[in-house]
Amino acid sequence: MSFLGTKEIETERLILRPFKLGDEVAMFKNYCNDERVCEFLTWRPHKNIEVTKEYLQVCCLEKYNLGLTYKWAIVLKETNEVIGAIDVINYKIEKHQASLGYVLGYNFWGKGFMPEAGKAVINHLFNEGFVRVDAWHHIKNEKSGKVMQKMGMTYEGTLKKFDMDKDGKLQDMKLYAIVKN
Ligand SMILES: CC(C)(COP(=O)(O)OP(=O)(O)OC[C@H]1O[C@@H](n2cnc3c(N)ncnc32)[C@H](O)[C@@H]1OP(=O)(O)O)[C@@H](O)C(=O)NCCC(=O)NCCS
Repeated sequence: MSFLGTKEIETERLILRPFKLGDEVAMFKNYCNDERVCEFLTWRPHKNIEVTKEYLQVCCLEKYNLGLTYKWAIVLKETNEVIGAIDVINYKIEKHQASLGYVLGYNFWGKGFMPEAGKAVINHLFNEGFVRVDAWHHIKNEKSGKVMQKMGMTYEGTLKKFDMDKDGKLQDMKLYAIVKN
């Protein structure tokens, strides 16, 4: 296996690339400050751009230096703007398994951007040697279930009290996965 981490990936309408300083402006404007985006996530909307900048520094840029990291900014080619993010939130090298998480700005929903990004990331991970990629969503977050299906994943079951919501309460999650043929 050869692990490349956050390598730049190009799709028809998107560039997936590592985050960089300055991205906080588009991140804050497009998704970090939006309650609609955070409804089923583990974090609350950022109150101001300083929070986003801190998040970018600590949770993105510093992670790239700590070892193998998969954390892409999703950039719309048409405007060259960061509109979302897609990450490997967890991986097990010895089992060749990875789990995805993703977020997209509200104004960009419903255009198939996340399935497009997700398929490219799964392809990248399979090329690196991963054999299973999974993802889960809050039981009420049907939109995300649709994305998982469009990425080629299959529903595997509901995991009881598996992950926290933003109030720190454990919630049931629907698990999807795709395996390399
Ligand atoms: C889930 C999410 C990534 C979907 O990305 P996307 O690029 O819009 O995906 P799609 O265009 O394929 O749309 C997926 C579904 O969202 C729903 N949807 C699309 N636009 C919508 C809108 N404006 N309002 C409400 N629902 C919408 C539709 O049900 C759609 O499925 P369909 O096309 O089969 O009808 C995006 O909604 C998002 O970032 N949500 C907030 C963060 C989140 O929930 N992340 C996942 C955590 S597990």
